[in-house]
Amino acid sequence: MQSRRLRLVFVLPVVALAAGGAVISATTHERGVERGRYLSIIGGCNDCHTPGYLEKSGAVPESLWLSGSPVGFQGPWGTTYAANLRLVAASMSESQWLTHARAARRPPMPWFNVRTMSDPDLSAIYAYLRSLGPAGASAPAYVPPGENVATPYIDFVPKNLPPAG
Ligand code: HEC
Repeated sequence: MQSRRLRLVFVLPVVALAAGGAVISATTHERGVERGRYLSIIGGCNDCHTPGYLEKSGAVPESLWLSGSPVGFQGPWGTTYAANLRLVAASMSESQWLTHARAARRPPMPWFNVRTMSDPDLSAIYAYLRSLGPAGASAPAYVPPGENVATPYIDFVPKNLPPAG
């Protein structure tokens, strides 16, 4: 009897601590997801990676956010498509994402800005992408300069530039 009560005295606080820890880590996770959502808005990721986002001034259902765009960006680099980041994040671990998101990309992806994001901020974007879950298809594949482009695209060639030099 004595020992059972003693055991309870020891066991209960441990259970309470474990439960408290689970609650704390759940709220930390939610805060990460919320911060990732915020960063992807102010970081401009939706502008290119969400279909129709710029054209509709952001009035696109969140269920479509960051699912990639079928409209290409054409310039001297060829034609690029903003990737489906939800599929990308679903295919890799958080540490793989941290390396992947910082790799050099073709224009107009601002990889040189994303590269300067801190690990916690990039991880928050990862948490947000994973919370959205995989959806949609992969964006069309990159088309090299001069090759036939089958999709709509935005022409990135600058006009009216002053003569070089
Ligand atoms: C101006 C348009 C634009 C903006 C803004 C933009 N991206 Fe991109 N992103 C692209 C394009 C286009 C590609 C494809 C580049 C290529 O083909 O090399 C790309 C590719 C990527 C890739 C590589 C995906 C893969 O595996 O193929 C990642 C990761 C990425 N972007 C993350 C982001 C994040 C995070 C943000 C916001 C902080 C962001 N991008 C903002 C246009 C953009």
